[in-house]
Amino acid sequence: MRIYSRILGTGSYLPEKRLTNADLAAELAQQGVETSDDWIVERTGIRARHFAADTQGSSDLATEAARKALTAAGIAADELDLIIVATSTPDMVFPSVATMVQHKLGTAGCPAFDVQAVCSGFIYALTIADSMIQSGSAKRALVIGSEVFSRILDFKDRTTCVLFGDGAGAVILEASDQPGILATDLHADGKYKDILCVPGHVNKGGILGDPVLKMDGQAVFKLAVGVLEETARASLAKANLTDADIDWLIPHQANIRIMQSTAKKLKMTADKVVVTVDQHGNTSAASIPLALDTAVRDGRIQRGQTLMLEGVGGGFTWGSVLLRY
Ligand code: ACO
Repeated sequence: MRIYSRILGTGSYLPEKRLTNADLAAELAQQGVETSDDWIVERTGIRARHFAADTQGSSDLATEAARKALTAAGIAADELDLIIVATSTPDMVFPSVATMVQHKLGTAGCPAFDVQAVCSGFIYALTIADSMIQSGSAKRALVIGSEVFSRILDFKDRTTCVLFGDGAGAVILEASDQPGILATDLHADGKYKDILCVPGHVNKGGILGDPVLKMDGQAVFKLAVGVLEETARASLAKANLTDADIDWLIPHQANIRIMQSTAKKLKMTADKVVVTVDQHGNTSAASIPLALDTAVRDGRIQRGQTLMLEGVGGGFTWGSVLLRY
């Protein structure tokens, strides 16, 4: 009998500080950087984002989201036997955010590690957790996407700093004989490293390179639309389903135009796409679980429905998870 990974509960967390486009434009104007609500909304669909307090790291956001997911699942932290955190903005070079979350949740012993696949990170982490559950090496997994992208933004570069926000989302997966995750699909191609990167690293007590986000927006746009359709179709084929079977599309929340193009290619109407980019901006690895939790809590997503989760990000990396909620 096949073992499935079933979502038992979801949770998310957004830092208190919320900036509308107008708030951000006013802050940027003080540094001589010009932008506007109109430009940001028209090109990206973003209207607001949250930024973490200086005292908050990815592990703090992740722990808050995890607590809510545990409550929704009705289990205690010491019932977990796996913790995976997807992040590109960890608190430290090491140890991992996952081990910090484990400790903050007051538990110990189970494996805990981070996955770094930028905006596809949550899809990668969910796929790894699903594999470990299917193989029998884990029964209850906590999978989190958590980011403080505000720490790696160049607030003098208006082409990137208006796009991102901070936040965290989490799911609890449990082994079940009922579906569950139906199919997964992961890819990467390292030749695209320069179109989206943070080209700096710690070296001999200092920073070598430029530790802020660099992006060729148009190259990213073109690549994203193509691979998001491909990976969705690959997962559907593995599960012997078609695009007509999808109840909700929950794509990485980078840009409303990328999401609309992807939905059109999958012949899905806009009302079947979960959109949170307008309120959260692009929260990288946190964006998919944040969108998922939003639509679960507001009652749009119901038990038994078929969800297509898909992401694309730096690397390049991309992938999808098709599941029965
Ligand atoms: N405010 C006002 N004007 C701006 C801003 C801004 N924040 N940013 C750029 N501009 C100006 C540019 O200077 C340019 O002016 P010019 O014509 O006088 O030179 C003009 O707007 C057009 O700039 P483009 O870069 O050509 O704008 P484009 O329509 O390509 O939109 C954007 C840029 C939104 C980044 C788009 O390329 C995009 O959405 N790309 C996808 C990238 C993305 O979503 N990345 C997220 C991270 S990657 C991921 O998550 C997968």
